[in-house]
Amino acid sequence: MSYQTGVGQRTAVVTGGASPRGIGFATARRFAAEGWAVALLDLDGPGAEAAADKIASEFHAPVVGLAADVTDQESLAGCARALAASGLPPVGAVAAIAGVASPTPFLEVDLREWHRVLDVNLTGTFLTCQTFLPQMIEHGYGRVVTMSSVSAQQGGGVFSKTPYSAAKAGVLGLTRSLAREMAPHGITVNALSPGVVDTDIRAGATDEENEARLAAAVPLGRQGSPDDVAALVVFLCSRDAAYITGTTQNINGGSYIA
Ligand SMILES: NC(=O)c1ccc[n+]([C@@H]2O[C@H](COP(=O)([O-])OP(=O)(O)OC[C@H]3O[C@@H](n4cnc5c(N)ncnc54)[C@H](O)[C@@H]3O)[C@@H](O)[C@H]2O)c1
Repeated sequence: MSYQTGVGQRTAVVTGGASPRGIGFATARRFAAEGWAVALLDLDGPGAEAAADKIASEFHAPVVGLAADVTDQESLAGCARALAASGLPPVGAVAAIAGVASPTPFLEVDLREWHRVLDVNLTGTFLTCQTFLPQMIEHGYGRVVTMSSVSAQQGGGVFSKTPYSAAKAGVLGLTRSLAREMAPHGITVNALSPGVVDTDIRAGATDEENEARLAAAVPLGRQGSPDDVAALVVFLCSRDAAYITGTTQNINGGSYIA
């Protein structure tokens, strides 16, 4: 059984999909495996193209990779225009996954760092949703999945600190309000709140010992995998998930049980 839209083929837009070990890449791959066309957007344009080529050849699926900065409205609008001209089916799902970490202690956070983290994680989610929602409304099928973090719920405590927790808490507020506004259109909007996931987001600021310590603190005894998270994103974008909206989906191996 697979979780396709059930309304004909649609394109899933995935931001932050270029990192080969990241959640975005795993999600784009999973969408393609489930029969979706995929547009993979990332600040790393060549990386996005390489990731798209890899997924396209693995699944013989229509996948495009585009350079995009989710903090830049014009950059996203350019992607929407490129997609409209590409011959891909209409956008039916958006997975706003692009994000950046920030382990800086509070008293050392300057305004530049504050804005960097808020801009990508929160404003980027806002702009991504606003860019692609009109198409979903127009074509009668829409699913939005945003990316929060357990840091929003428990006040950091994993790796990133205050600006990240604040941004990811903002994503929850955005998601809930957007769910209410989009409901009359039949469009669902849900947030994922992962615990620690084994990706390169902490690269350069962690080591094997720290990663093992993070895994050992999880009741299920391991870090999440990008595929664990991708499976939930793609399910939430399926027709079967039509009655789930405004939720925060905890996916954390039991590290935060609420
Ligand atoms: N890995 C974890 O432990 C974890 C836990 C909870 C939440 N998350 C969230 O999941 C999401 C994915 O994280 P990941 O671990 O796969 O990270 P990652 O670093 O592997 O991938 C993030 C991707 O986002 C892209 N990106 C960064 N800034 C961008 C911008 N301005 N415009 C477009 N793309 C941009 C990067 O180039 C990269 O490809 C993030 O929102 C992150 O905050 C991760």
